This record gives sequence, structure tokens and C-alpha cells, in this order.
Amino acid sequence: MADLKPASENTRRQFLKQTSVLAGATFVATQTGIPAVHADGSDVLKVGLIGCGGRGNGAAVNATRDQNRAVLTAMCDLFPDRLEASKKNLREGLKEKCQVDDDHCFCGFDGYKQLLETDVDVVLLCTPPHFRPEQLAASVKAGKHIFCEKPIAVDPVGVRSVLETCQEAEARKLNIVSGLCWRYDKGVQETVARVRDGAIGDIVAIHENYLTGTLWHRGQRENWSEMETQCRNWLYYTWLSGDHIVEQFIHSLDKALWLKGDEPPVVAFGVGGRQVRTDPKFGNIYDHFSVCYEWADGTKCFAYTRQIAGVFNQTEDFVLGTKGRAQILRHLIEGEESKWSYRGKGDPWMYDAEHYALFDAIRSGKPINNGKYMSYSTLMAILGREVCYTGQKLTWETVFNSSQKLGPDKYEWGPGVKSEIAMPGVTRFA
Ligand SMILES: NC(=O)c1ccc[n+]([C@@H]2O[C@H](COP(=O)([O-])OP(=O)(O)OC[C@H]3O[C@@H](n4cnc5c(N)ncnc54)[C@H](O)[C@@H]3O)[C@@H](O)[C@H]2O)c1
Repeated sequence: MADLKPASENTRRQFLKQTSVLAGATFVATQTGIPAVHADGSDVLKVGLIGCGGRGNGAAVNATRDQNRAVLTAMCDLFPDRLEASKKNLREGLKEKCQVDDDHCFCGFDGYKQLLETDVDVVLLCTPPHFRPEQLAASVKAGKHIFCEKPIAVDPVGVRSVLETCQEAEARKLNIVSGLCWRYDKGVQETVARVRDGAIGDIVAIHENYLTGTLWHRGQRENWSEMETQCRNWLYYTWLSGDHIVEQFIHSLDKALWLKGDEPPVVAFGVGGRQVRTDPKFGNIYDHFSVCYEWADGTKCFAYTRQIAGVFNQTEDFVLGTKGRAQILRHLIEGEESKWSYRGKGDPWMYDAEHYALFDAIRSGKPINNGKYMSYSTLMAILGREVCYTGQKLTWETVFNSSQKLGPDKYEWGPGVKSEIAMPGVTRFA
């Protein structure tokens, strides 16, 4: 258990010095509201959780691991019942590291704004992806350090907004650590680094599989408006989740992007549909996608994802090179002359590692900003969705620059957002 008492005078001075560097200068700290040190002299960082679901609960645990010297002090969820369940769970699990009183619990579409007015140093953004651009921008404006779950948007307008916000965060020396967790997995890091260093020659093709079963559905109740049903079952509505190619397959597409040095593909085409999960309660998303992405140098990525029960499942990244091949999740490289596999033991779990990196960066004053790759991998997934929805071949440029913006102009309980199922050959790209 972390010692949560105020730090010694020496540590306090050191922390004050480091956070001044972090803020650029005392002047900047005052002007921007970037936290320096708490009034009680403690260097224990305060964390606020926005989106108290499965991942939010997990992220709160990861963020408050002993070595981070952090406590959870504020929580926000759209729904009071979700917040209460999470608070109970976290109080039991985190014990004194959960210091959330009733005055620091916020609900509703604007609840996050109230949370950002509290004295939290770090926010964990774990709501459905639709809300990320707005919540990220407000968090940076409020001078908070950020753990930002993937994906970061559901449409190109959101992606461009996040890129701008991340530039602002960089200028203000605020941390943005992405929840694309494989980037923080030691074995995956080592394997990708070796492939990038030429262990299998030049990459010719990448083959991504994320073939998996079905996910949760939270039901429908008579006293829920359609908008409430959509928000509670957000996975199934493209405006909220981006569809499963964006919400889940992004993990694999991000590894393909990483293997290509974070340079985006130039064009894509694909096929997809909704073959099994056809009940209206499953909103408007597809249940399978296959996309062929192509880079400027001719490298291709063949990307398959499916959420269907009772069929062949596999999640793996296969890389084919001019002098061998690799499997990223297996940490395996089969070069022409030698075979290598990662043998590391005792590495931190990737979900902890991303938070160790975040809290170390806050304290060292050397900010992390994962903004570019988390935005590009989100756009890569959106490109894949749109080529399947429309049946057209589309370029990165077209999708990146488009005015597509999903969701309502304002959030209110009532009829919900009209969510049509895309039909290739009929649906046009906005
Ligand atoms: N990195 C990973 O491995 C990983 C794993 C799971 C989920 N995720 C991501 O984390 C995010 C959350 O997923 P989850 O599985 O926790 O979903 P979840 O439904 O369990 O949790 C989301 C919570 O956010 C709340 N919410 C919805 N709209 C909100 C709003 N406007 N303001 C505040 N709260 C709001 C919901 O009520 C819910 O409690 C998603 O972006 C998902 O893709 C990442």
C-alpha cells in the first residue's frame, strides 16, 4: 500500500521544482491552472475518473498502483446507477486510495465539466468514444494530465479536433497517454522494434486478425427513452462507438500503423456486413469487416475482424517480409537465418505500464504525448469502416479531410439518434 501521507520536505521541494519545469514556469502554472503541488504539501496526485464502466474501473486501479502515489478523488458517469456501482466496487478494492466523497460525484452529459472544476491533477477518459474529442479538449483546457482510452473519436471531425487538442497539450506540457495498451507491452515493443530494424527484411504485407465472439448487451427497459437505450448499449451504434472496427479492431490496426513507422496508408477498399447480429436491438453496426489497406510504398495490410459466436477465433498480427516473417502477439520472429522470440519475465502488465509511464512523466517533467498515433490509428479504422459501408475505394486524404460528424447537435433524453444500417453501393461517404 502506498504511503499517502504528505511527502518529506525534500521530496516536496523536488516535486515543486519538477512540476515548475513541467508547467514551463511558475507563471505558466498560474496562468493555465496546471497543478504544481497541493496546498497540504503532498506530492500524492489526485485522479478523476470519467466513465465508470468496465475499463474505467480497471484504469482507476491501474492509476492508483502504489508506485504512482495517486488517489482517486472524483468520479463522473452519465448514469447515477453506474456511478454508484463503480464507487462501491472501487471503495472496496482501493480502500484508502479511493477518497471520493458525494460532493465529488457528477452525472449527466455535462458531469465531466464539473469534475474538471475540481482539483484533480489527472483524468481518466473512459467513456464511449463519441464523447472523447469534447472531453479531451475540455480536460486540456482545464490543465489536467490525461489517460485517454482508445479510440479517440468516431468521425474525421473528431479526429482533427483531437489532433489540435494534442498540439495544445504539447505546448502546455500536459501528458496524454493513450489506452492503446499494446504500445506499452514490453514483448510487443521488442518484437515491433526488431521488425522495424529489418529482422525480416522489408515489410511486404501485414495480415491482421481480430476474430472474436460477441460482447455484452445491457437490455432495454420500458422506462428508458430511445436515447438512454442507445447510450447504455453504446457498442451497437456507430455514432457512439464508431462500429466494432473502430472500437475494438483499432488495437490491431494500430499495430499495423506502428510497424509502418506511424505513416498512414494512402488508400483502402473492403467488404463487410451484418449477417448474424441482425436483431434491431443491435443498433446499426456490422458484425464483420475485411479491409485491404495500401501504403505509398506498395505495402499492403489485409485486415479481418468479426464479432460472431461459434466460429473460428484468432487475434494475431502476421508480418511478411522480404527475408522472413513475424507474429507480433506471439513475440516471434522467423528470419531467413535465425529464429527469435521474446523471453522477458516479470514485465509490468501493459495496463499498469501505461499508467507507470504517465505518472513518471508527470513527476519527471518530461511529458508524453501519444496524440499522433492514437489519432491516426482511429482514422485508419474509420477509413476501413467507410470503405465497407459504402463499397467504394477511398483515400486517406478524402476521409481525413471530410466533414463527417456523427451524433446529435445537442444531447438530451428522448428519441435518440436515427441510426440507419449502411448498405454498400447505396450509402455514400459524407
Ligand atoms: N484498452 C483496452 O483494452 C480497452 C478495453 C475495454 C474498453 N476500452 C475502451 O474504454 C472505453 C469504455 O469502455 P468500457 O468497456 O468501459 O464501456 P462501459 O460501457 O463499461 O463503460 C463506459 C461508461 O461510460 C459511461 N458514459 C457514457 N457516456 C458518458 C458521458 N457522456 N459522460 C460520462 N460517462 C458516460 C457509461 O454509462 C458507462 O458506465 C471505450 O472507448 C472502449 O473502447 C479499452
